[in-house]
This record gives sequence, C-alpha cells and structure tokens, in this order.
Amino acid sequence: MANALGIVSPSVHCFRRRNRAPLGLHGSEKKTAFICLAAADGGVEGRVLDSASSRSYRPRAVGMGSKLVGCGSAVPKLLISNDDLAQIVETSDEWISVRTGIRNRRVLSGNETLGGLAVDAAKGALQMAHVEAEEVDLVIMCTSTPDDLFGCGAQVQRDLGCKNAWAFDITAACSGFVVGLISATRFIKGGGFQNILVVGGDVLSRYVDWTDRGTCILFGDAAGAVLVQACGNDEDGLLGFDLHSDGHGQRQLNAPAKDDDSNFISNNNGTSLFPPKKSSYSCIQMNGKEVFRFAVRCVPQSIEAALEEAGLTSSSIDWLLLHQANQRIIDAVATRLEIPSDKVISNLANYGNTSAASIPLALDEAVRTGKVQAGNTIATAGFGAGLTWGSVIMRWK
Ligand code: COA
Repeated sequence: MANALGIVSPSVHCFRRRNRAPLGLHGSEKKTAFICLAAADGGVEGRVLDSASSRSYRPRAVGMGSKLVGCGSAVPKLLISNDDLAQIVETSDEWISVRTGIRNRRVLSGNETLGGLAVDAAKGALQMAHVEAEEVDLVIMCTSTPDDLFGCGAQVQRDLGCKNAWAFDITAACSGFVVGLISATRFIKGGGFQNILVVGGDVLSRYVDWTDRGTCILFGDAAGAVLVQACGNDEDGLLGFDLHSDGHGQRQLNAPAKDDDSNFISNNNGTSLFPPKKSSYSCIQMNGKEVFRFAVRCVPQSIEAALEEAGLTSSSIDWLLLHQANQRIIDAVATRLEIPSDKVISNLANYGNTSAASIPLALDEAVRTGKVQAGNTIATAGFGAGLTWGSVIMRWK
C-alpha cells in the first residue's frame, strides 16, 4: 500500500479497522475510585503534601458518550499583514493570497505566551459550557510549541484554577487538536471522566525563518479550546474518527533539534572532558508541494473512513471544518468529498495556519457568529508534520 506521500510502503493502512468499545454500562466496568492528585493553592511542597493527605475518591461511570458543550479562542495582539511580509521577503499580497488564501496572521509579542493564550481560550470554553474550573477533571494541552520543554498543560491547569484536574500535553503538530479531542472521548468512555478541557495552541512564530518566503507567509499564533463533557450514549456527539501517522514523510515538514557541542566541559585541572550538547530547534523546513499533495490525497480518505464509522455520507454533514493550512487544500478536499462551498468553514484569511489551534479557533468563530448551531454535524480533519493526519465526525452540543 502507498504511504502518505504515495511511496509504496507495507506499513500504512489507509482504512484501518478498529474494534469498537462496548457502549453499555456494566457493573464490573464501573470505576469506583479516582485519586485526585492536584491540590489546593500553596507552595509546591505544601501542594504535594496536601494532595497526598487529601486524596479524593469519586465514583466514576465508564462507557459514557461525550459531547462538545463549550468553545473559546484567543489570538495575540500583533497583526502581520501580507504587505508587512512583503517588506521583509520578496513576495506580495497577491502571490500569498492567491496561493494560500491567507491575508493576515497574529504573532506573539511583548510578554504574551502560549500558556496565556491557552488560558484565555479555555476560560471562554468554560464560560460557554457553564462549567466551573473546579469541575474539570482533565486538561489536555495539544501543542508542539510549549513555553517549557516539559510541556505546559500543568501550568494551564494551574492558571485556570482547575485544582481537581490533572493535565498532560499532546504533540502531534497540526493534527494535535484532533488527537486531543479523540483522547478526551476515550478518557470519558474508558475512564469515567466528566469534564475535559481540550486546548489546541501553537506559537510557531518562534520557529519560523522570517527570511524564508516559502514558509514565513503561512503561519500564525493562536489557541482554541473545547469543553468535552460526559453524557448518555443516546446523546453521544463523537460519531466516528480515524487517525494515521507516517514517519516516512517527516523529511517533508520538520523543525529538528540541533546540537551545539563546540564548548567543552573541563575538569578542575583544566582538561577538556566532553562537549555538552546545548540544544535548540531549527526553524521550520518544508517541501510545500509534497505537503500539499499529501493533504489533498490523505485527508479525504481519512474523512471518508470516519464518515463510514459514523454511518454517514458527506452529503449528510452540515459543515466541513479542516485544519486551516491553505484555502486551495480546503477547496480541493471539499471538491473530492462533493461538499458545497457554503458548507465549508474557513477563517485562515485572518489568522494563517495556527497549527493545533486552527480547528478550535475556526469552530469558536463559527459558533459565536451563529453559523454552527446546536445539533449540527461537523466533519473535521487535522494534518501536518509527522506526518500525522486524522478526522473526527462530531455533533455540536
Ligand atoms: N512569494 C513569491 N514567490 C514565492 C513565494 C512567495 N512567498 N514562495 C515561493 N515563491 C516562488 C518560488 O521561489 C518559485 O519560484 P521559481 O518558479 O522561480 O522557482 C515559485 O514561487 C513556485 O514555488 P512553489 O514552492 O512551487 O509554490 P507553490 O505553488 O507550491 O506554493 C506553498 C507554495 C507553500 C504556498 C504551497 O506549496 C503550499 O501551501 N503547500 C502546503 C504547505 C502547508 O500547508 N504546510 C503546512 C501543513 S500543516
């Protein structure tokens, strides 16, 4: 079978079948104890001690459905237009907008951080869902550009005041939000969790080479969030999904670690011992044409697989909401799936490719402007570095 880039490879299966998890609630499956590891405010030591001494045990029901009940988003203040970029590299507003559909993007400045954007986006989702921070039991932070090497999910949890939650990060580039959303529904179905914040956020401007006109025109910074809540199986809003990765394509889109081992560590006698690796990441490198081909080939296949699992066809969905990478990719996928343009959600003209943030950012805008209504079915798909790609068919509320 061909891999993501169309090269013959035995390892990738485009239509993988899964065994579905049992939907019913069985007494033996009920998880009755949950150790709450987060604790009240206070110093690190006090917090750890508090949590050890006041572990809370909550009954949890597994086998539940899950639904999206709130969304939010946040973007940095600084706007960079195509004309601004034309002052840095040899390009033009016309070239960029015709080839990509992008006109503006937002970029971190001053003391803005990914964590700050993530917290603002998550607050919007909690507010819309009428859920208090204390009611959240898991924060999934989907990002490839955390403020800290070790991730920033726990800091987002702390800053939101989600003291009964635990948190972790997911790194899956522009597919990150889709992976996080599917993970959340598994924690609800298999682990009995009730309220899960899924935050997609990226600040790729940190890794953009602003002298490379092939990449700097594409990316922007943002965060978006959804609150996924447990519900009865009859209300289940996660109708089908499909996930893939193919490391053969990593060379087409990456930002690899680079080591500076030019300085040796010396012992007390001044003898050189070893060169410690002081590492950082390279700027984003991309073969645009290959990534374009991969997206228009693999994304429709993935959406079709997720639709099949949902028992739906493309004609029965209300909205197509793809990762916002390039308007020509969005149009090509919509054409392949025979979805008319008035059912396609797109806001990348204003924000560019915001990686893991792009789907929840566009969803939030579409919900708040009244485009997406309660009960609407949305086919969404993420795709990007890895290579990774995947789809979800979901119902809004
Ligand atoms: N402005 C003006 N000219 C540009 C340019 C820019 N910003 N970027 C590239 N060019 C030039 C190239 O140098 C090349 O010139 P040449 O013909 O003299 O050699 C010409 O335009 C065509 O370049 P090419 O790279 O073939 O353009 P393209 O049609 O493939 O468009 C992308 C480039 C990046 C817009 C397009 O490939 C793309 O969007 N790919 C998908 C990338 C993506 O979405 N990545 C993220 C996935 S999550």
